[in-house]
Amino acid sequence: MGDSSYLLGTHTEELERLRFQHELWLPAARAAWQRAGLGTGMCVLDVGAGPGFAAMDLARIVGPTGLVLALELSEAYVAAGQAMARREQLPQLELRQHNLLRDPWPTEGFDLAWCRWVAMFLPDLDPLLTGLEQSLRLGGQLVLHEYVHWDTFGLHPNGRAIARFGQACQCSFREAGGDPDPNRRLPALLTARGWRIEALQPIPVAGGSRSMAGQWLQRFVEVYGVRLQELGLWSHSDAAEARAEIAAATDDPGSFWVGPTLLELRASRAE
Ligand SMILES: C[S@@+](CC[C@H](N)C(=O)[O-])C[C@H]1O[C@@H](n2cnc3c(N)ncnc32)[C@H](O)[C@@H]1O
Repeated sequence: MGDSSYLLGTHTEELERLRFQHELWLPAARAAWQRAGLGTGMCVLDVGAGPGFAAMDLARIVGPTGLVLALELSEAYVAAGQAMARREQLPQLELRQHNLLRDPWPTEGFDLAWCRWVAMFLPDLDPLLTGLEQSLRLGGQLVLHEYVHWDTFGLHPNGRAIARFGQACQCSFREAGGDPDPNRRLPALLTARGWRIEALQPIPVAGGSRSMAGQWLQRFVEVYGVRLQELGLWSHSDAAEARAEIAAATDDPGSFWVGPTLLELRASRAE
């Protein structure tokens, strides 16, 4: 499986979109890591790490006595992350090219595994769960930030094309074998395997056009709209209509974006 198998692509615009997205979601990620007891000296696995933006923050928290192993499918992202780790002088961070569905998982007995916006792209969740069981120590914590309600995505009150865009996104994820809302199924799959659910917390996101959340969602419409057109799920006229709605919303203080609702799911491997 090459880089092209990641539905959203690994081009520079997507890498920059992931950087901005990470900045927006970092407070929620940090709070989740804190609740999971992340601290100095711990061994952490970042599953489907992208270019490693979260992995770098995790590496700063565990410090030089800890270890962060970031597994990622895309060679381009792994190379970008390795360069950033060298620049930031984080020898405790290793990025490794790894297909979660196929490659053997590490067995170091990690204290914590972090997985954000990855399960949604996997056609089969069993290899992910089996791999996590091999990699985490007994009592280790799994923290998942995956979507639970993509239908909340929208621009209000006048976003008809944007609403169609949200539906087209969900369709594209399903057609590629994924699931826009994998955190609807993951708690049941985990408990069936003997994991204990420690926390379930929905995380909504909303904001005006000039807010970080608004900018994040507008950028997603721009970047992913191109891919949706290639897939035949979105047209030039849809894109033009969406651009007009976005432009009208920019100067309207009563207009606001809502993102797909995330669910923080924390589970532990039963001892
Ligand atoms: C939306 S990005 C999220 C990246 C990162 N977790 C973050 O929060 O910024 C999804 C990532 O999952 C990776 N991915 C998808 N399928 C994968 C697989 N089978 N094995 C490893 N990584 C995979 C993609 O290459 C991409 O980097």
